[in-house]
Amino acid sequence: MGAVMAGTSSESALPLLAGKVAMVTGAGQGIGLGIAWELAWAGARVVVAELNVEAGQGAALALTSAGLDVTFVETDVADPASSARAVQTAHERYGALDILVNNAGITTFKDMFEVTPSDWDKLMNLDLRGLFFASQAAARVMKEAGGGVIIHISSNHALATLPHSEIYAAAKGGVNALTRAMALSLGPHGIRVLSLSPGFTDTPHYRRWLAERGEAETERAVNALHPAGRINTPQEIGQLAAFLASDNARALTGVDITADAGLSARLYTADGF
Ligand SMILES: NC(=O)c1ccc[n+]([C@@H]2O[C@H](COP(=O)([O-])OP(=O)(O)OC[C@H]3O[C@@H](n4cnc5c(N)ncnc54)[C@H](O)[C@@H]3O)[C@@H](O)[C@H]2O)c1
Repeated sequence: MGAVMAGTSSESALPLLAGKVAMVTGAGQGIGLGIAWELAWAGARVVVAELNVEAGQGAALALTSAGLDVTFVETDVADPASSARAVQTAHERYGALDILVNNAGITTFKDMFEVTPSDWDKLMNLDLRGLFFASQAAARVMKEAGGGVIIHISSNHALATLPHSEIYAAAKGGVNALTRAMALSLGPHGIRVLSLSPGFTDTPHYRRWLAERGEAETERAVNALHPAGRINTPQEIGQLAAFLASDNARALTGVDITADAGLSARLYTADGF
């Protein structure tokens, strides 16, 4: 297509999210923390909605020490009333809520014959039910304001999975289905809804998983599954989230963006192919 014509690319040199207010759930560590950093660097004021008070306060302190505008709100996303309070606090503190990133989630990998109703409820209450009601609370505010963006952090397990991951795969598959339905319901109100599905990402959660399996050897095996021999960092997922939340991604709603560092591009993993 050649060079971009004057006036057709980004209209200004302002940071991507200048003037925006964002809330990131589970932003005390891992992917959520990476997202909080990148949204804030992109100009957004950020609410860290986190269950773990120490982690949430630590994240807020680290970002504010870097000169970024961040507020921690103790939040249990598994409790819809708690999410609604966090949305209200964000609105009172900053006068708006333009972006919600539903990142908080837990993972359960367990032999399906050993899964209990309580395992099912615990994961679903956060990863699917909690995510929906946090979105509902935020969408009410966004609808009043005439627009916004909701990004669900899903997983590549929504698309293809492994044995013993029934609850997690079902929840994340549900998240991707919710993305489509919510995009249709909220589109008329100027609200875009996307899911962002990371593959392997180097977080404390991933490090715990590695440690259970013999860290160095498993890490080498995981890296080898990826075209560039490396997995995602939380910062990279954060950079994608900042782009998706920005007006530069206006063309996207109701779809999933899979960010798996090329893992799913490979057809076979057997030796000799
Ligand atoms: N790390 C990966 O490889 C990977 C891959 C695909 C998808 N994901 C998804 O990314 C998201 C974050 O994963 P991670 O690896 O950073 O996890 P993590 O366990 O490292 O961090 C999760 C954060 O969420 C917080 N949290 C837990 N329960 C909460 C609740 N009820 N309310 C509010 N906050 C709560 C935790 O305190 C923690 O700070 C999850 O939704 C996960 O399914 C992760």
